[in-house]
Amino acid sequence: MIKTELYNGMRVLSSYHRKGGVGKTFLASTIAYLLATGGPNGKGKKRRVLVLDYDSQQDSSKAFLKMDAIPGDDEYAAPLHPEFDDIDDPEWSGRNTSTDILFNSPVYEYPTAFENIKVLPSEGNVDRVLALTPESDRLVSKITAHMRDWFSVEELADDYDIVIVDNPPSKSPVSAGMLGAATHVIIPTEPEYDSIDGVPMLLNRIDRINEDRAHNPLKIVGVVPNKVPSKSRLTQKDEVALAKLYDSEGPTGKYMSPFWLQQRNCYRVMERPSVDETHFNYVHNHHAKKEMQKLYTLIEDSLWGDEV
Ligand SMILES: Nc1ncnc2c1ncn2[C@@H]1O[C@H](COP(=O)(O)OP(=O)(O)OP(=O)(O)O)[C@@H](O)[C@H]1O
Ligand SMILES: [Mg+2]
Repeated sequence: MIKTELYNGMRVLSSYHRKGGVGKTFLASTIAYLLATGGPNGKGKKRRVLVLDYDSQQDSSKAFLKMDAIPGDDEYAAPLHPEFDDIDDPEWSGRNTSTDILFNSPVYEYPTAFENIKVLPSEGNVDRVLALTPESDRLVSKITAHMRDWFSVEELADDYDIVIVDNPPSKSPVSAGMLGAATHVIIPTEPEYDSIDGVPMLLNRIDRINEDRAHNPLKIVGVVPNKVPSKSRLTQKDEVALAKLYDSEGPTGKYMSPFWLQQRNCYRVMERPSVDETHFNYVHNHHAKKEMQKLYTLIEDSLWGDEV
């Protein structure tokens, strides 16, 4: 099998699905937390993580940072960087969003409450990049090329083992461009018709991306069913949906994760920002912790498994 090229050893994982509310942000932020803390038992390697939020809804930004409310506006501004007074850069405004990468502005990642997690929050208007070029097809390849260059800078791999990208629920040029530059992709899906139906289309798109990346394929970590009702609440419809996903003869079978994530209260976002562990309060639930161990093992094996 052809190995995916890394960025000086650094991985770039995209949490992706066109459908809204399936768990992209839940997976992106939880995987960041699991990797940074060495898994649910804290015994694994502690990975240094950078989270890039490219969703205008700013959900993973709010999961890790206290964003600034803008009076009269429904979006938030990135907070003033805590090191603004210490960093001497006349070009820098002291606030950064993930979009600054695309505009070649100075970029300083934000520290979070978690030692190994840094974040570049989303600017409320990610689609501002549409102004970069009038032709959207070219925009996607431009963003891919730009991000490849950015990820390739050696200093980035000195600071991070992995970049995790959270995406909006749409096929925006930004998320498509990011996917082209990512090394790995994880696809959450709900056991519900629309989101399941979208998975083969998504896999098709990844096939098409990989036609241009014959020597450097985007690796699919897995399709992870999420928000699956507990056994006693699973309807026949849900069961049919899951069986369809896991059908080994079907288009999705070979990409399915060996487990699914149940709908659980402890996974719901209770508080933002996550200045303490209550954001990831599955740690207090035995069943959830076991599920999180499975998720952690899937990610570690898929991203670092062939490392000697
Ligand atoms: N397994 C789960 N159990 C219970 N709640 C969950 C689970 N996964 C996600 N949620 C909750 O469901 C909602 C949607 O999840 P999330 O925000 O991760 O989806 P998304 O795909 O990022 O959505 P969007 O497309 O809007 O960005 C959130 O309130 C989240 O806390
Ligand atoms: Mg989201």
